[in-house]
Amino acid sequence: MTRDFISNKKQVFDRWAPSYDWLLPSVFYQTVHKRLLEHVDLPPQPKVLDLGCGTGRLLDRLAAKFADLRGTGLDLSPEMLRVARQKNRHHPRLIYIEGKAESLPFADGQFNAVFNSISFLHYLEPKQVMSEVARVLSPGGRFYLVDTSLKSKAESQLTLAGLGKIRFYSPQERESLGASAGLVCAGHYYLLGPVLLTIFTKPPLS
Ligand SMILES: C[S@@+](CC[C@H](N)C(=O)[O-])C[C@H]1O[C@@H](n2cnc3c(N)ncnc32)[C@H](O)[C@@H]1O
Repeated sequence: MTRDFISNKKQVFDRWAPSYDWLLPSVFYQTVHKRLLEHVDLPPQPKVLDLGCGTGRLLDRLAAKFADLRGTGLDLSPEMLRVARQKNRHHPRLIYIEGKAESLPFADGQFNAVFNSISFLHYLEPKQVMSEVARVLSPGGRFYLVDTSLKSKAESQLTLAGLGKIRFYSPQERESLGASAGLVCAGHYYLLGPVLLTIFTKPPLS
């Protein structure tokens, strides 16, 4: 079931990749990225991961703003990654690799920040992804989770033609998912309509 689910998502995004950066939704994503940046706080020489990086637009923006940042984009879709690599103005500071959010191919504590923009809604195993994010974050690191958040529970799970099954999480559900992985919620910020940024921190070592 998990394998079919993931392979369907891969097909959806492979098909979408060539037009992803010029279709109307991209204007929406770019606005979300711009507003997200206003909340980003990184240490010197940060190492960051963009989970579900798509065509790499968010990492490109982060690398332009933080000159000493090194970033890894991970995505399920080889076609999204192909576009991201073609447009990569910051190689070798930015690299792109194929993988699944549910089992990250990284050592523990490797990143100062993890970003996840409009991708969490696609995950079949959100708890597993949260625990992987917590694992790869360094102590004191931050997780920036950006996704649509609906208030009504009735609308929280949908099957959309072309996108498959998706799921939205309320601010409280996000907090408890984070807590189950040992992450502490530092705040919620609406970026655009129902698109909500939740910032989590991994507690520093005492
Ligand atoms: C709507 S796009 C968002 C892309 C980018 N983050 C942005 O803000 O423009 C969602 C991305 O999540 C990726 N994705 C979905 N499920 C995934 C999973 N389980 N593991 C890794 N990537 C996944 C898709 O391949 C797609 O590129």
